[in-house]
Amino acid sequence: MSVTSTIPQIPTPPLNPTPPGPTRQWLADFARSPHANPFEFLLTLAREFGDTVHYTTPYGSVYFFNHPEEIRQVLHRTNIVRAPLVSLTLGQGLLASDGDYWRKQRRIMQPDFHEGCLIGFGPLIVEAVQRMVDGWNLNVGESRPLDMAHEMKILTLDIVVRAMFSSDFSAYAEDICDAIAVMIEDLGHISATLLNTPMTISPQRNARFKQSLATVDDVVYELINQRRADPNPPRDLLTTLLNSRDAETGEPLTDKQLRDEVVTILIAGHETTAISLAWAWHLLAQSPESLQLLNAEADEVLGSRWPSIADLPRLTYAEMVFNEAMRLYPPVWVMVRRALEADEIAGYPIPAGAFIIVSPYTTHRHPDLWPDSERFDPSRFAPNDGPKRPLYAHFPFAGGRHLCLGQRFAIIEAQLILGALAARFDFRPIAEPPVVAQPVLTLRQQFGVPMEVHRRR
Ligand code: HEM
Repeated sequence: MSVTSTIPQIPTPPLNPTPPGPTRQWLADFARSPHANPFEFLLTLAREFGDTVHYTTPYGSVYFFNHPEEIRQVLHRTNIVRAPLVSLTLGQGLLASDGDYWRKQRRIMQPDFHEGCLIGFGPLIVEAVQRMVDGWNLNVGESRPLDMAHEMKILTLDIVVRAMFSSDFSAYAEDICDAIAVMIEDLGHISATLLNTPMTISPQRNARFKQSLATVDDVVYELINQRRADPNPPRDLLTTLLNSRDAETGEPLTDKQLRDEVVTILIAGHETTAISLAWAWHLLAQSPESLQLLNAEADEVLGSRWPSIADLPRLTYAEMVFNEAMRLYPPVWVMVRRALEADEIAGYPIPAGAFIIVSPYTTHRHPDLWPDSERFDPSRFAPNDGPKRPLYAHFPFAGGRHLCLGQRFAIIEAQLILGALAARFDFRPIAEPPVVAQPVLTLRQQFGVPMEVHRRR
């Protein structure tokens, strides 16, 4: 007599098939339409196909996840890694690497970003703002037109170079900013090929890219050489990097490894903060009631004095403005990853090698998470007051192991800059040139942020 098991077999639930998504014809039609651009592309995909979308490009399969829970999975999985496009500029720098090499480098640099170190940068940040304001040369009641995108770039570059490398790059700040602009634009054009946008890099642009890289490298290698020769090096991130030794081999970092980390901090440490602050001034100028609230907070907390770290807990509206500006215009507006091996997310199988996209720009406009999402409303970030939102409903600093190393640094900087300037100036919009979002590697303003800056105190 044969015995058969009476225990029923629990079937493994079948994985969903491929997520919904556009056909090749849809993609071709969209690319030809007058409103085609990478922002619209992602927003339209989310609107028409939902939170999980699949499409095919000449470079491979792309999975686009727009829901906070799926984003969490993408950012937290170790077998979903960075697509290495930015390594064209950053080499193996922290922002371009992953896996064991990335982990070693992050361990070396992380201690320099602890709160205890960051609060020491307060005076240096405020002094940089004072230098900028002195350069504006405005008496009380006077005003002048300024490109706030440019002002914020030079300011945040000055700050990061002094804070992390104890150096002064003011003599070549303009050249560095121009060179970085070229790299960010060109890398943006290359990565947009995954977003249904044709490649537009010509041989001339290629040469311009190399020239820009050389401009930045010259300055950075000179900085490294000078520091190697310094008998009394200051305590800063560059010294940390120079003194670090590999735990297994005991070897110090090579010049190229040092260069990659310094260029990473130079670019990551100012471009994103500058863009967010420029968007913040633009949005405030369009929203007089929000600007008034910021001015009122600055008047109450600071009056006519300059801010210090001790003021941060009371500059809450400044932080809310910064968060809301990053919601509408997240500087890193799209993140591209690759599946190292076959995996599954939200019940959908993901083949090895597939591209995976998450975009703060679209999730920050998700209608279920952000009602009236296009409206600038800093009160969404009121402390202890707002609705409970899932983690990754707002993720301008990414998350998981690659959570931005400079998140606290950027927030401290933004609060001090917004507070210091709001206590002294009014910012009024100027119609021309228009403020236009440019979907390159970061979310820049294509023609800057022109404003009439008026000294009120
Ligand atoms: C508003 C300002 C900033 C924003 C929105 C921002 C955003 C981000 C995002 C989204 C990432 C992750 C990118 C990815 O995984 O592909 C990142 C990583 C990083 N950021 Fe920031 N960032 C800001 C400011 C800064 C500052 C001020 C510094 C340094 C001084 C900095 C240094 C870095 C570094 C080193 C990484 C790589 C982290 C890792 O992978 O371990 N960032 N940032």
